[in-house]
Amino acid sequence: MDKKLYAPDITKLKGVRKFSMVTAYDYTSALLVSMTEIDVILVGDSLAMVMLGHENTLNVTIDEMLIFLKAVKKGAPNKMIVADMPFLSYQIDIKDAIENAGKLIKAGADAVKIEGFEYPIPEVTERLSSIGIPVMSHIGLTPQHVLKFGGFKIQANTKEEADKIVSASKKLEECGAFCVLLEAIPEEISEVITKELRIPTIGIGAGRFVDGQVLVWQDLLGINPNKVPKFVRKYANIKDTIIESLNRYHFDVINSTFPSFEEAYHLKRV
Ligand code: KIV
Repeated sequence: MDKKLYAPDITKLKGVRKFSMVTAYDYTSALLVSMTEIDVILVGDSLAMVMLGHENTLNVTIDEMLIFLKAVKKGAPNKMIVADMPFLSYQIDIKDAIENAGKLIKAGADAVKIEGFEYPIPEVTERLSSIGIPVMSHIGLTPQHVLKFGGFKIQANTKEEADKIVSASKKLEECGAFCVLLEAIPEEISEVITKELRIPTIGIGAGRFVDGQVLVWQDLLGINPNKVPKFVRKYANIKDTIIESLNRYHFDVINSTFPSFEEAYHLKRV
């Protein structure tokens, strides 16, 4: 792919073709994505868990997000980058939300993603959009609400919750979101949302009838040794390759077969 996409290009893809997004958190991974056809990179706050080892996403700060985002930007300047606004970087007041979204944009993000639909999220979405910061809304299983949900649980599986999330998606569209990410909801509901909205939807665990799909780098590539949700499709099993390679290296070292003569520097003969 030679042309970098921006928020309006994603909006225009609706009904034309589906689009792909993958998370990336570091320079080398981003460099690899830059060599692919993937449409969008997400610097997700999932980095709290998969890069920093936290139990959930609540502990990551805006300063930490900026470190990862800047590395990704260096690796993939040719890709649209969406950056997650971390927990409490946009909920306290609008001034804070603008300042923090601005930090992400200045560090190289092309859009920000914010979770939820209850007060003050519609207001924040409206304000950021109106000052030129494209907003991807994230509803359904929003990991920043994990304590309220009592775990990482499928959402919108009752009629009442489903109705609520459908009207929430319309509200967020009205407030200026350019895309709505739907996480871990029944595909019957994401299909309704996708049909009712003019803007595109993107799903993770939201089934087949959305406009785009996103997966986490470690899950998609089979790097994550922990149990992954059923919606993950593993396109590789890098974990086994890494473990096997590290063990081979270890045994080559202790058996003195690494390094070889060719892998060493030698004095020049005069
Ligand atoms: O932070 C993240 O990686 C995300 C995905 C789960 C969509 O928000």
